Amino acid sequence: MEKILDVISGEMQKAFQAAGYDAELGKVTLSNRPDLCEYQCNGAMAGAKRYKKAPILIAKDVEKELEGSPVFAEVGAVPPGFLNLKISPSFLKDYLSQMAGEPKFGLENPKKAKKIMIDYGGPNVAKPLHVGHLRSAIIGESVKRIARYAGHEVIGDIHLGDWGLQMGLIITELQERNPELVYFDEGFAGEYPKEAPFTISELEEIYPTASAKSKEDPAYKEKAMDATFKLQNGVRGYRALWNHIINVSVSDLKQNYEKLDVDFDLWKGESDVHDLIPAMVEEMKAGGYAYISEGALVVDVKEETDTREIPPCMILKSDGASLYNTTDLATIKERMEKIKPDEIIYVVDKRQELYFEQVFRCARKTGLVRPETGLKFLGFGTMNGKDGKPFKTREGGVMRLESLIAEINDVMYEKIIQNRSVPEEEARKTAQVVALSAVKYGDLSNQASKDYIFDIERFTSSEGDTGPYILYTLVRIKSILSKYKENGGNPEAVSLQPASGEPEKALMLELAGFLGMMENAYGETAPHKVCAYIYNIANAFNHFYHETKILTEEEEEKKSGWIALLLLTRDILETCIDLLGFSAPERM
Ligand code: ARG
Repeated sequence: MEKILDVISGEMQKAFQAAGYDAELGKVTLSNRPDLCEYQCNGAMAGAKRYKKAPILIAKDVEKELEGSPVFAEVGAVPPGFLNLKISPSFLKDYLSQMAGEPKFGLENPKKAKKIMIDYGGPNVAKPLHVGHLRSAIIGESVKRIARYAGHEVIGDIHLGDWGLQMGLIITELQERNPELVYFDEGFAGEYPKEAPFTISELEEIYPTASAKSKEDPAYKEKAMDATFKLQNGVRGYRALWNHIINVSVSDLKQNYEKLDVDFDLWKGESDVHDLIPAMVEEMKAGGYAYISEGALVVDVKEETDTREIPPCMILKSDGASLYNTTDLATIKERMEKIKPDEIIYVVDKRQELYFEQVFRCARKTGLVRPETGLKFLGFGTMNGKDGKPFKTREGGVMRLESLIAEINDVMYEKIIQNRSVPEEEARKTAQVVALSAVKYGDLSNQASKDYIFDIERFTSSEGDTGPYILYTLVRIKSILSKYKENGGNPEAVSLQPASGEPEKALMLELAGFLGMMENAYGETAPHKVCAYIYNIANAFNHFYHETKILTEEEEEKKSGWIALLLLTRDILETCIDLLGFSAPERM
């Protein structure tokens, strides 16, 4: 189905042509004076020079052609030459009925679906998840859902950080504590135990301890680097321990992501591409791209047009060790060989922007990707506390994701039991659902690249541009619909009617923007467009609701039209919150 702006523009173009002007001039946009009109066309102004004619005269010619148009209820040519437009309520009703009758509200699948990989989440094994990882998970999940809804094949990959020094640190600390463990017995040739020699909470304590020790004690750090080296070179006992670390950590991560309603198709990690590195390095050398500089192996990636310094991409350190770079490049190689995506989108902290610029350039230069493969960096800003500094615990430490979620759940729970008496269990469940909307909407309603202030009070408020506000609206609609049913109404039998009043029309106009919104949200990888769209809908709905006695309306046709409008509003809101990655409770 065509977006409403295109349908209206089509009608306007016909009128320009019929009046003897270039059809191209008939482009219609949303009004920037909503007090005067709903849409506008500035084509007459654009044509003035070409036709050597006052714009208002052109506008008047076009206005005449639009007399009796089924699309417009009002066309006003106003000085200096604007065409102010209001669309016909019955045209609007027909458009929405068509939307309601089509799958995905008329959103067509692309002629050729793209295969898109999204690299998001990016937690580091054995290190606790912190709020920095929260943004990647929330934004990436929504970007994935939007692209999928737009009709593309989308594969989300968590890209675990599971191959770096943190692994060596943990192994070293384990050895300090339990040197008798069979994993450290070099002569051992038997099978290693199936049970891990630690729990997740032990693991989470071990890493920070080891990390702190290594900062103070160079010998300890040396040991950890050696352990990392041995692990990467396949020493059996170390690999076995590493497997335990991964398993314990991943099952914990899975629980955490499940709570966030974030779901990955692939649980690959940096380690998965370890074996691909030697061949990749050889190819880079053979191609004449990689060379030794100060002992390290590098690829130049600067370009003549650069306005800032882009340092070479380091592939191997002077001791032959691989880096974060190396695993990212090898991962691109593997993805291109096994999955062949048309595009890879990275949802990572924007402070890694330069890093990804280097990686992308290096991948292109060395032919790891095809020239037409899209590599996109979607960098997000920092989540700050109310003091404007990166979000911390009250004690000033790094806030753990779990504690943060628990805190919001509690705030939400308090609000819910304040409002009404619901059974404890239900209140807890509802609090979780609503709290998730608060966190996700609070994040996604900002343009991803911007920093934002994490304000629990504001995010959990049921008023304003928040997740809970959207959910309250949705629950309100659902409750009207169920009352309608209880009173004997049949929601299957209702049909939209042309709007009889302004608030109703305003809501219909907002809903009609769905296809345009989707085009932008997908095209610009911009979940905040979904938020802005539903916020406007929620406002328009609430205004309509306060002005209208829906259930007590005597005129059956009117009432049926309103119920149909509520159904469409509910369906669109539900679809949109699903694109954002949260859902609504039955009641609140
Ligand atoms: N593990 C990394 C971190 O915590 C993020 C990974 C981002 N993705 C990637 N392909 N490098 O900073």
